[in-house]
Amino acid sequence: MPETLLRLHFLSLLLLCSCAFLSSSSTIDVDDVVVGLVACRSRQIEAFTQFTNEFDTRWCNHSDYSNGVWCDNSTGAVTKIQLTACLSGTLKPNSSLFGFHQLRHLDLSNNNFISSTLPSKFGYLNRLEVLILSSNGLLGQVPSSIN
Ligand SMILES: *[C@@H]1O[C@H](CO)[C@@H](O)[C@H](O)[C@H]1NC(C)=O
Ligand SMILES: *[C@@H]1O[C@H](CO)[C@@H](O)[C@H](O)[C@H]1NC(C)=O
Ligand SMILES: *[C@@H]1O[C@H](CO)[C@@H](O)[C@H](O)[C@H]1NC(C)=O
Repeated sequence: MPETLLRLHFLSLLLLCSCAFLSSSSTIDVDDVVVGLVACRSRQIEAFTQFTNEFDTRWCNHSDYSNGVWCDNSTGAVTKIQLTACLSGTLKPNSSLFGFHQLRHLDLSNNNFISSTLPSKFGYLNRLEVLILSSNGLLGQVPSSIN
C-alpha cells in the first residue's frame, strides 16, 4: 500500500478511536463544571452554562462526578441538576434555573448564595420531586408557591 493510503487508514482509525472514546465518555467540562452529558439537548446545555455563568464557580470540585447535569434520554430536557459546594453569588429571580421546567431533582446544597432570598419562581419548577437547598445562605421565608 502506498504510504499516503496507509496514513489515511491510520488517520481514519484515529478518528474512529476518538469517536468511540467521545461517545463512551459521559462527562465534559463546561465552564469549569463537570457535566454529565448523556442525552442533553445542546440548547439545554447552553441554558445550564448560562446558569453556572451567573455565579463564581472557582470552588467547584472538578473530580466530583456527583455534581453535574442530567437529561431525559428521550426528550433531552434537563431533569436533574446537582451542584453542591460549588456556586458563589446571588440566585436572582430571573435566573436561568427557573427555565428548567422538567427538573425533577435539584440539589444546590452548601453553596454560597450571597444575601439571596428564596425566589418564588421555585414554584415554576412544578415537576420537582427532590429539592435540597440546605446550608447555602438563602434568606427569608419559603414562598407559598413551593408546595
Ligand atoms: C472532590 O471530589 C472527590 C470525589 O468525590 C473527592 O474524593 C475529593 O476529596 C473532593 N475534593 C475536595 C477538595 O473536596
Ligand atoms: C440513559 O442513557 C444512559 C447512557 O446511555 C444510560 O446509562 C441510562 O441508564 C439511561 N437512562 C434511562 C432512564 O434509560
Ligand atoms: C436579571 O436581572 C438583572 C437585574 O436584577 C439584570 O442585570 C440581568 O441582566 C438579568 N438577567 C437576565 C438573564 O435577564
